Amino acid sequence: MKKIYGVIGDPIAHSMSPAIHNDAFDQEQMDAVYHHFHVTPECLQDAVKGMKAIGVSGFNVTIPHKTAIIPLLDEVDELAQAIGAVNTVVYRDGRYIGYNTDGKGFYKALAEEVSGDLASKKTLIIGAGGAARAIYFTLVKEGVKQVDIANRTKERAETLISECPYEKQSTALTMLEAEANIMAYDLIIQTTSIGMSPKVDDTPLDVTAIKASAVVSDIIYNPLKTKILMEAEQNGAKTQNGLGMFVNQAALAFQIWTGVMPDTSRMEQIVLNKLG
Ligand code: ATR
Repeated sequence: MKKIYGVIGDPIAHSMSPAIHNDAFDQEQMDAVYHHFHVTPECLQDAVKGMKAIGVSGFNVTIPHKTAIIPLLDEVDELAQAIGAVNTVVYRDGRYIGYNTDGKGFYKALAEEVSGDLASKKTLIIGAGGAARAIYFTLVKEGVKQVDIANRTKERAETLISECPYEKQSTALTMLEAEANIMAYDLIIQTTSIGMSPKVDDTPLDVTAIKASAVVSDIIYNPLKTKILMEAEQNGAKTQNGLGMFVNQAALAFQIWTGVMPDTSRMEQIVLNKLG
């Protein structure tokens, strides 16, 4: 029988997930289909019950449900529990189990880009919201211990550091403090919405003093090159946009559901075609 997968969110109409997952099911010759489902917050509980009742095999969870879904699941993986957000749910033996592949997707994409030992890199995360939380906790859990966090509201960066349950050496900074010490970092990770289309001239901080050997990664992929990435490149640094994170979080979800790792370069091409 055809298996059903999907993504729940509000809004959801513009999600690129159906295109990449349906292509991956075709490629792997699996009898499965992936839909997008518009689920409002008031309907979340009924939606989860309904999906279980009709046997939906797995689904992605996006804004605004990543945290609210946790108490509605039968089990939540340790990292997702620590992050406090689930983006992937799988049906196993009558139970819905939640995972978070956002941070891992980011980490996988980053590891492909960075040469040498990731764990020894002195890292700066810009931003302290939900995306920063998934990335920070995953990096630290994977062994990257020296991770500072710069945020417009420094207290939020302090809270994030204090809530991270894994061993780390982290300092909370203002944007100005981070900018003054920017040459110290091997890796700079931009997790805010600053620079996202249509406000493409915005940038969170000045990177003109970065090391030429630094890698600057932005989780935004529209535009493909944000202002901070352009400025980092002008200073000789290597850059990475958010396409790799998006594609790898999807690929890791697909792997949780099917046991098969799909072709991420095909997924990337589909997203690029949709972006135009
Ligand atoms: P997400 O889940 O996408 O990370 P979020 O939880 O709302 O979204 O977090 C947004 C992040 O972007 C925060 O770090 C926020 O800074 P504050 O904590 O100070 O609000 C940051 N951010 C968003 N817009 C910003 C702006 N115009 N200038 C500086 N920081 C901004």
